[in-house]
Amino acid sequence: MRILTALTALWATTLALPSTNPPPSISLNSRQGGALGSKPTSFEWQSTGPLVSAKNDGRGIAGIKDPSIVLINGTYHVFASTAQSSGYNLVYFSFKDFAQAGNAKFHYLDQAPLGTGYRAAPQVFYFTPHKTWYLIYQNGNAAYSTNKNISDPLGWTAPQVFYPAGRPKIIDDNIGAGYWVDMWVICDDKDCHLFSSDDNGQLYRSQTTLANFPNGMSQPVIALQDKKNDLFEASCVYTWGDGFADGTKYLLLVEAIDPDGNRWFRSWTSASISGPWKGLANTMENPFARWNNVKFPDDKVWTWSISHGELVRTDTDEKLRIDPCSMDFLYQGIGPDADWSDYNALPWKLGLITLRNSVCG
Ligand SMILES: *[C@@H]1O[C@H](CO)[C@@H](O)[C@H](O)[C@H]1NC(C)=O
Ligand SMILES: *[C@@H]1O[C@H](CO)[C@@H](O)[C@H](O)[C@H]1NC(C)=O
Repeated sequence: MRILTALTALWATTLALPSTNPPPSISLNSRQGGALGSKPTSFEWQSTGPLVSAKNDGRGIAGIKDPSIVLINGTYHVFASTAQSSGYNLVYFSFKDFAQAGNAKFHYLDQAPLGTGYRAAPQVFYFTPHKTWYLIYQNGNAAYSTNKNISDPLGWTAPQVFYPAGRPKIIDDNIGAGYWVDMWVICDDKDCHLFSSDDNGQLYRSQTTLANFPNGMSQPVIALQDKKNDLFEASCVYTWGDGFADGTKYLLLVEAIDPDGNRWFRSWTSASISGPWKGLANTMENPFARWNNVKFPDDKVWTWSISHGELVRTDTDEKLRIDPCSMDFLYQGIGPDADWSDYNALPWKLGLITLRNSVCG
């Protein structure tokens, strides 16, 4: 309650921001050889209310989390974590319209060869060289399953791991009291890269060649480092359009925790997936996505956290290309009244934020 009052006061202050903080000029729309001249440097979003919640279907699931989403031929395909006291697994559902997302039938992936037990934080993409869908997730290691048909929830294969020798030493050396989570794969023309986080301020990256994927992941290196809460988890790396005039081409998002305990996203850009990563909108005042740059329906802030999620991708292949002109981010949020005594049983729900200040006019 104390936190909420403080936040409400902050929120009221922030409402005055638009007049002092003009949106980026639309002259940024100069295109150079297919690439945008300048990249966005600040973001303003419109959110929906909660769209997808756990279903009362006898499974006892408390929260739907960590969504990964692609749009194919007019159908959205979503993979997400199911959370309950006993642990995590995965769910798949599809729909044609966000207004109908809450009615989509849940297909629990523990029914597939992917199986029961700890599986969480999925990422889906189509790996063109194998003409196969990959689902990347955590199961104590960095794992994947494959499927020829994204619409077939029973088609996901048994887990295989990227690090057959177990958790890499560099992670043991840096993880402290953290958790090794949120694996993410993105490829360029030559290599595929695997990112992960340790909930202790480190973002890791391994790589293998495109030809060798999914085998041969190298020992990780530290891709980025900051204070624990400022570089927490849920990284996403995208090919950002066709790149920008300054040579940057990739967008990195990492979830952080603000001093009130609320989740938000910071952003960085780079000319290469292997970095170095340069801060973009990465402060609480100029975040990638945080409650203070998100408008909610009727100004009702249903969640103060914009937490683990993914940009909606219409380019579904391993390059994870997203359009800087039109970004929608499916996230997990939670009401201020939630009881945090059992982290696994928190009632996370999914909402969507849509970019309002596109640099493309
Ligand atoms: C999308 O539709 C096109 C044309 O009907 C079809 O060729 C393609 O296989 C579809 N894609 C997927 C992933 O189903
Ligand atoms: C994909 O799976 C769905 C659901 O089982 C099925 O209806 C569809 O026919 C399958 N598509 C192909 C190409 O096998």
